[in-house]
Amino acid sequence: RHFVRTASSDAATAAAKKLLIKHVTIIGGGLMGAGIAQVAAASGHTVVLVDQSDEILKKSAKGIEESLKRVTKKNFLKMYFFGAEFIEKTLKNLTTSTDAASVVHSTDLVIEAIVENLEVKNELFKRLDKFAPEHTIFASNTSSLQITTMANATTRQDRFGGLHFFNPVPMMKLVEVIKTPMTSQKTFESLVDFSKAVGKSPVSCKDTPGFIVNRLLVPYMMEAVRLFERGDASKEDIDVAMKLGAGYPMGPFELLDYVGLDTSKYIIDGWHSLEPNNPLFAPSPLLNKLVEEKKLGKKTGEGFYKYK
Ligand code: NAI
Repeated sequence: RHFVRTASSDAATAAAKKLLIKHVTIIGGGLMGAGIAQVAAASGHTVVLVDQSDEILKKSAKGIEESLKRVTKKNFLKMYFFGAEFIEKTLKNLTTSTDAASVVHSTDLVIEAIVENLEVKNELFKRLDKFAPEHTIFASNTSSLQITTMANATTRQDRFGGLHFFNPVPMMKLVEVIKTPMTSQKTFESLVDFSKAVGKSPVSCKDTPGFIVNRLLVPYMMEAVRLFERGDASKEDIDVAMKLGAGYPMGPFELLDYVGLDTSKYIIDGWHSLEPNNPLFAPSPLLNKLVEEKKLGKKTGEGFYKYK
């Protein structure tokens, strides 16, 4: 009985130490930031979404409302009264701002989802570090940059981690919670709890290039390009093979076109400069050529394939 009491009081102390995240500030109202704002507001958090102009924020808010309607149609098919109530409640939890420094004073968690540029991210975090309260946790949604470097731009290295959501955020269940060597256990657990609270399934990973998913996915896609570049198989056959043989929903070339060839090139070039001798991170002449020709995939109408 003594053991049970000690064990349960230890668990209670650990739980008490965790930060219950209620107020969230999301910087960047693009594809990812708007999605994260939506799921956070829908799960009862108060959310401030920040971007550079009111025009962008208006577009983000409209996108969120439309996405909520789609989610509601799916989940509340026979109960549209509750659906309307759910949308109204969610939107009430959400406000927008163009001035991050003036809204972070009452926030528990800042999630950054701005442009994938280390210098810009570092500068943002350095500035917000001065305005956010002591207890506030900072997290980046970066796909390919080092979280540790961003944490070092602040004075709160122990309250800094990665929260890597997937696109489209309302649909994709995964969040990678990234722990740097300085992230405290309390911060890590608070981020795991927050991920669960917004309805996601968190996994954890150290601050290593690509974390889990992109570390496996990007070299796989690059290897497919190399197979095609060598003339070993056609891109169409490689796509069919991976769909029918490995059960993947998309082939690697379809996926590259969907993600954007510029984004994939940016990631691989960044990793290549970090580890130039790693053959998994070697650049591809064909990928570079397509990006140079502005054939960036679905978004430009042509990548490895042509669209319409
Ligand atoms: P996006 O280009 O759709 O949105 C970025 C937004 O940030 C824009 O609205 C821009 O106006 C705003 N912004 C830029 N600098 C700002 C600043 N200093 N202050 C406030 N707002 C600023 O980009 P997306 O796709 O949403 O990506 C954002 C982050 O999420 C990147 O770090 C990216 O690597 C990461 N990510 C992207 C995924 C994707 O599939 N697109 C998946 C997972 C992570």
